[in-house]
Amino acid sequence: MNQSPVLAIESSCDETAAAVVIGRRVLSNIIASQAEMHAKWGGVVPEAAARAHVEAIIPVVRSAVQTAGITYADLAAVAVTNRPGLVGALSVGVTAGKAIAHAQKIPLIGIHHLEGHLLSILANAGEILFPHLSLIVSGGHTELVAVRALGDYEILGETRDDAAGEAFDKGARLLGLGYPGGLAIQNAARSGNPNAYSLPEGLRKSAYEFSFSGLKTAVNRLVDTTPTLNVADAAASLQETIVRSLSQKALAAVEELGYPALSLVGGVAANEALRNRLAEGCARLGVAFMTPPLTLCTDNAAMIGLAAVTRLARGERDSLDLDVWPNAELPVIPA
Ligand code: KG4
Ligand code: ZN
Repeated sequence: MNQSPVLAIESSCDETAAAVVIGRRVLSNIIASQAEMHAKWGGVVPEAAARAHVEAIIPVVRSAVQTAGITYADLAAVAVTNRPGLVGALSVGVTAGKAIAHAQKIPLIGIHHLEGHLLSILANAGEILFPHLSLIVSGGHTELVAVRALGDYEILGETRDDAAGEAFDKGARLLGLGYPGGLAIQNAARSGNPNAYSLPEGLRKSAYEFSFSGLKTAVNRLVDTTPTLNVADAAASLQETIVRSLSQKALAAVEELGYPALSLVGGVAANEALRNRLAEGCARLGVAFMTPPLTLCTDNAAMIGLAAVTRLARGERDSLDLDVWPNAELPVIPA
């Protein structure tokens, strides 16, 4: 299975994505984003997302297969995100995956979206160190995860309210910077002073847990009470507060656990300031820093393929009645 092409499909939220991987090699990674459509409403509308997946799924899958330079007959297996996510959105990818697995008479495997993010660091990588601590930061998740081995994960702590990506997105909306907000904040922050406005860092005393809802309230108040608000300064201050909270806790945790490495994954891992802060912190602590290329930070199917390869190699398979789940625990290797 390590040397055979695996088709992966991801449709859990607002990207329709398909990829072909062989082992740790990414042959193609196609993404049709719905961000522009959801920008009108300032966030993802589940029903609209599902319909957009219906339109995009076959062209995106076809493009992934063609770009990889293979045909459907060359595929050894189909991997698809089946949890967690928007049920209507997930169903589109899972149904397409089942149809291909059925037609080609090849195995199907359902993958947990967060395991995909966790294993996105495998892409074309050299040595991956275990155990390591992973900081997963995306639009829906903010988690510190102990990654003891492939398939052996434990969530040490998470956000009590908003995810880090949500804090970027909501902050950007309040500052009139559009959706999705992470990149918009990063760009605006380049010319801003990160110490211009003082914003609250949630749950400072908790080692593994985060809170970002107070930040949104504070930005709202700042906008309402500051007629001369400098948007670049506000964006830089918001980014700094999020980066400081995430990096201080992740670095303290990796040091406390004595792990040899820290990984940074998920959409917010694309943030330049966060990547730099953690790379510097890890260098100071003498631990390795692992993070995927930018294209594998935000939602994509290559990461689902990379996770699937590790499970298929252990002989894991799912049947064609595979279901979808809006919420789901991170999987562990069956004993
Ligand atoms: O992993 P992802 O694509 O989707 C989820 O699984 O949620 O993460 C999307 C999130 C969005 O909140 C987006 O604003 C954020 O990642 N993001 C960023 C950057 N690029 C994307 N946040 C900060 N800086 C960025 N450069
Ligand atoms: Zn994601």
